[in-house]
Amino acid sequence: MKILILNGPNLSRLDLREQSYYGDLDYPQLKSAIENRAAELKIEVDIKQSDSESELISWLHEAADKKQPVIINPAAFTHYSYAIRDAVAMLTAPVIEVHLSNPLSREEFRHTSVVSGVVNGTIAGFGAESYLLAILAMQKLVG
Ligand code: DQA
Repeated sequence: MKILILNGPNLSRLDLREQSYYGDLDYPQLKSAIENRAAELKIEVDIKQSDSESELISWLHEAADKKQPVIINPAAFTHYSYAIRDAVAMLTAPVIEVHLSNPLSREEFRHTSVVSGVVNGTIAGFGAESYLLAILAMQKLVG
């Protein structure tokens, strides 16, 4: 099993974002933390980031065709991209939504996720640990 881990806009610039929400890891450090935990669990991961809705959708289409499990942090697209939601809905293997911060404890526009209704589950608010918990959850879902 190779899990595709997708990250949406602005996550590549984590070190320049609000530390109180996103912690002090930069994106390469976040990536290494996920890769290290996955290696310990003997799970393969493919971690990608894009600021482009179109590129994220292409990767979701490929994952659907390959029946690949997906962990996705759609970042700001979470709150308004019906196109990302529709692409997630087409996935054929389990999919988990993750967030570093807890969007429900932030501004009101972040309280809506248009993606949550089409995922197996959502893990939010644990920083990098959200991804690590998602990998564990995915391991159970995929068996
Ligand atoms: C985020 C939360 C979103 O509201 C925000 O737009 C992001 C990151 C998170 O991981 O906490 O870019 O998805």
